[in-house]
Amino acid sequence: MGDLTGRTAIVTGGGSGIGRACCKVLAEYGAEAVAADINLEGAEKTAESIQEQGGKARAVYLNVVELESVKEMMEKVYHECGRIDILVNSAGILDPTRVPDMTVEKWDRLIDINLRGTFFCCQQALPYMQKTGKGAIVNIASQAGQVGGWMAGVNYSASKGGILALTKALARHCGPLGIRVNDVAPGQIATEMTAGRGDTPDGIALGRLGTAEDVANAVYFLASDLSNFCTGMTVDVNGGQFMRS
Ligand SMILES: NC(=O)c1ccc[n+]([C@@H]2O[C@H](COP(=O)([O-])OP(=O)(O)OC[C@H]3O[C@@H](n4cnc5c(N)ncnc54)[C@H](O)[C@@H]3O)[C@@H](O)[C@H]2O)c1
Repeated sequence: MGDLTGRTAIVTGGGSGIGRACCKVLAEYGAEAVAADINLEGAEKTAESIQEQGGKARAVYLNVVELESVKEMMEKVYHECGRIDILVNSAGILDPTRVPDMTVEKWDRLIDINLRGTFFCCQQALPYMQKTGKGAIVNIASQAGQVGGWMAGVNYSASKGGILALTKALARHCGPLGIRVNDVAPGQIATEMTAGRGDTPDGIALGRLGTAEDVANAVYFLASDLSNFCTGMTVDVNGGQFMRS
């Protein structure tokens, strides 16, 4: 039931960190993974490492801020792969700017990439998913969107809180189309984004930072038929740092 053979999975931000790990895990379960990233070199590295392991993968350029770039990427993937079944929105940036130093430019740049970019990737994937009458979208939110980030700026927390709400709103729209929309809220995960920020396992019940693979395994669950009755849902991958009742 968890087999993804024959499915095409686009992963934005697939050139690094969590996005790269998602590509690898989805390909291990049989999907053709498409690493879509503004860093084409990073996306190509992802695809090559999957191909070396015998998996199916390709790399495409994508700037999530440019609607034309999103449209072109979807068209290209559909043309070359023949279908789009899974979309993982992992592209994002972190901005540690403190409240007094926040500027209009910093606010807009982060919200445009993290939140607006996520929405327009979803919007542009829907018509292709509708062709098969089925699809799964997984957005990468953050614990910062649930409880406020202590390392991240307010714009980051706001963008991730926006993704949590966007996921639910889209899930209502997409349910009748046969398309499920869920998100994963990672806590502190050791990737390039967080390198050098001095994250410690303090307050994490499992006593360690998370890995990109920890997040990717939850993404796999939500992207596969194993979660066929789940939509509008958030899976927390935080080692027990934040527990909900
Ligand atoms: N690392 C963590 O602790 C953590 C925690 C919670 C949530 N997240 C979220 O997980 C996602 C992935 O983060 P990561 O840690 O893997 O970071 P990362 O920096 O390793 O990867 C982010 C990727 O997004 C790409 N990207 C940035 N701007 C883009 C754009 N305009 N268009 C296309 N691609 C773009 C980058 O090139 C990079 O490959 C992000 O959305 C992040 O907010 C990370």
